[in-house]
Amino acid sequence: MPPNLIPRPDVLQVGWGWFQVLLTVTFTAHILLMNAMFGGAVVTLLGAARPGTGGESVARDMAGRVPTLVALAVNAGVAPLLFLQVLYGHLFYTSSILMARWWLAIIPVLIVGYYAAYGVYYRYETPLRPLWSLLAVGLLLYVSFMFANNNTLALRPERWIAGFENPSGAWLNLGEPTLWPRWLHMMVGAVAVGGLFAALVQDTRARRGIEGAAAARDWALRFFTHGSLIQMAAGLWWLMALREDVMRRFMGGSPLASALLVAGIATGVWAVVHAFQKKVRSAALWLVVTVTIMAVMREIVRIGYLDGVFHPETLTVVPQVSPLILFLAVFAVGIGCVVYMLKLAFRAAKEG
Ligand code: HEM
Repeated sequence: MPPNLIPRPDVLQVGWGWFQVLLTVTFTAHILLMNAMFGGAVVTLLGAARPGTGGESVARDMAGRVPTLVALAVNAGVAPLLFLQVLYGHLFYTSSILMARWWLAIIPVLIVGYYAAYGVYYRYETPLRPLWSLLAVGLLLYVSFMFANNNTLALRPERWIAGFENPSGAWLNLGEPTLWPRWLHMMVGAVAVGGLFAALVQDTRARRGIEGAAAARDWALRFFTHGSLIQMAAGLWWLMALREDVMRRFMGGSPLASALLVAGIATGVWAVVHAFQKKVRSAALWLVVTVTIMAVMREIVRIGYLDGVFHPETLTVVPQVSPLILFLAVFAVGIGCVVYMLKLAFRAAKEG
């Protein structure tokens, strides 16, 4: 591959590890919220079609939550985008340009998807509800597929040549062997986690003694238990589809990668065991641990694919610590504000 295909990256102000940790932490937050949002939209679509069951109560509840989750997931996506562009921007922006038409379409598609999520809520009692629901799920699926395309393309500069031969920006990374299993793993996981999120809400209601909430919780929980079993198969497919040298890292080649794989599977299975026992809160806790481990594994995949092409440790550091200190201070204040805002919102909901 001609090395001049890869643009020259900018310099860093502090060591790359800071940005890598921030990227992984904020991506974990984004993906958890994206899961609650997308899974919530799917659960709403399917639950509403089962009148008189626990599914219907879940759908009614989630219809009101999905628009907020869209806003939260989108906002939580901006933070990893910032850190991604600091470390891998020269790769990510090139792949974004190669698929520019599809990529730029994300913005209008997402706006209509967000509108559709509100459509489900405000038109819940009308015959149009299933259409709004399908539209929301379909458009969110589009966005997720484009993210999977871009994230796989950014790792394979050798594939860019095919994209340069098709300079219209209407090109996608469809020939990439990991694309389909990776996307499937992301989105089956999202449905499973969305089910768990809905179950968590219903579990809280059941603890308050609200009638029908336990049945609604059990209905939603099945998305997590059954979805996670499919998810394991999708994960295995993704693992097998990885380039051999990267896959080998998880098969003993790298003690850290292999230990994370074992730990991720173990905590995931443990979360499902808790869910089968209807211990929703501990299932959610183990799920967060699992997703965090998987997010670190995803970074190992990224670094593995880019081996010999680029590693962020090769970036030049021109020390300038004050922006980082200011950022961390604002970050801490911001988190404090969000926690305070959520507290107020929960208190208002309780009083309501
Ligand atoms: C426009 C608002 C959004 C922003 C700024 C955003 C940001 C990001 C970023 C930066 C990443 C990659 C991080 C990395 O490579 O480390 C990512 C990954 C991802 N996002 Fe979002 N996101 C947004 C909305 C969404 C929505 C609405 C969905 C789903 C419907 C979604 C689904 C995904 C998925 C599935 C991935 C993982 C792709 C992969 O690794 O293959 N995102 N997002």
